[in-house]
Amino acid sequence: MAYTDRHFRRLVRLYTQRTLLYTEMVVSGTILHHLGEPYLHDLLHVDELEHPIAVQLGGDDARDLGVCAKICTDFGYDEINLNVGCPSPKVQKGQFGVCMMGRPQRVAEIIDAMKQQSDLPVTVKHRTGFDVDDSFEFMAEFVERCRDAGAVTFIVHARKAWLKGLNPAQNRTVPPLQYDRVYQLKKAYPELEIIINGGIQDLDQAKQHLQHVDGVMIGRAAYHSPELFADADHRFFGDEKRPLPDASETLAQVDRYLSEVTAQGVRPSAVLKHCLGLFKGRRGSRQWRRTITEHMQSSKAQPSLASIYKATVGQQP
Ligand SMILES: Cc1cc2nc3c(=O)[nH]c(=O)nc-3n(C[C@H](O)[C@H](O)[C@H](O)COP(=O)(O)O)c2cc1C
Repeated sequence: MAYTDRHFRRLVRLYTQRTLLYTEMVVSGTILHHLGEPYLHDLLHVDELEHPIAVQLGGDDARDLGVCAKICTDFGYDEINLNVGCPSPKVQKGQFGVCMMGRPQRVAEIIDAMKQQSDLPVTVKHRTGFDVDDSFEFMAEFVERCRDAGAVTFIVHARKAWLKGLNPAQNRTVPPLQYDRVYQLKKAYPELEIIINGGIQDLDQAKQHLQHVDGVMIGRAAYHSPELFADADHRFFGDEKRPLPDASETLAQVDRYLSEVTAQGVRPSAVLKHCLGLFKGRRGSRQWRRTITEHMQSSKAQPSLASIYKATVGQQP
């Protein structure tokens, strides 16, 4: 949430056209509360260039989520994903996210309601378990119930969540990664599509995991370095090898996108915030970050990103 919004997804699409992208989690209550409003259009509108794209829904009411699945299908998404992995206190209060792993019957009802309202594949993102319920059998039983309700793909964040005692950020680092559990799930259910997630830093690591599972989801590393995906279409989807994108040309495209959306009333910072982390680790990246931050705070006429790049990272030998 607050990261993989439509602006960030457009940025990623400059590097890969074939990788499946996910929206942030959209809570069913938000969709139903804003029905017919421009806000909902802004939130769910899918640009042609964003495909293939899955929408991730959160919530615990089967009827509401069925209606939301229909709405998202009409918006043009390619997949409906249900969040059963989020450990945040707010989400727990709403009785959804990872705590729903303890209520597989409800999850099955939600999947069933979604399937009744939409022909799209319904997929589930979950963890290996939570609190005391983290045995392989617990996860396998959960997956079976979802499968019987019609879910076809499972994206497993390979660590349990501690709902009592750890905050969301700690729940992404403290519980140890258990990749073997996810491999074991694929072995036990070879007919299901199993996608592994958690701590995967680059495409080489992704390739290793693909010896055991059907797919890899990358979260934080993708956000911090979208250029990581520059070679993904060639390596994983068999597209012809293309030269790595030139940074100045890529940024010129972001500049064009920025002009287009700001003309529609979008604040420049909504796009620029996603550019802050580009070029991390390269010489000049600190100046890049500082200049973009100033750029975000100023109301004066702005230099282009391409020219900021030339004056910072691009100037370094
Ligand atoms: C700031 C932040 C927001 C996140 N929001 C979501 C979300 O909306 N839905 C979701 O399924 N996971 C969300 N995640 C979790 C990631 O999708 C992923 O499961 C987790 O970060 C582990 O994968 P990684 O090590 O590749 O980042 C979020 C993670 C971060 C850091």
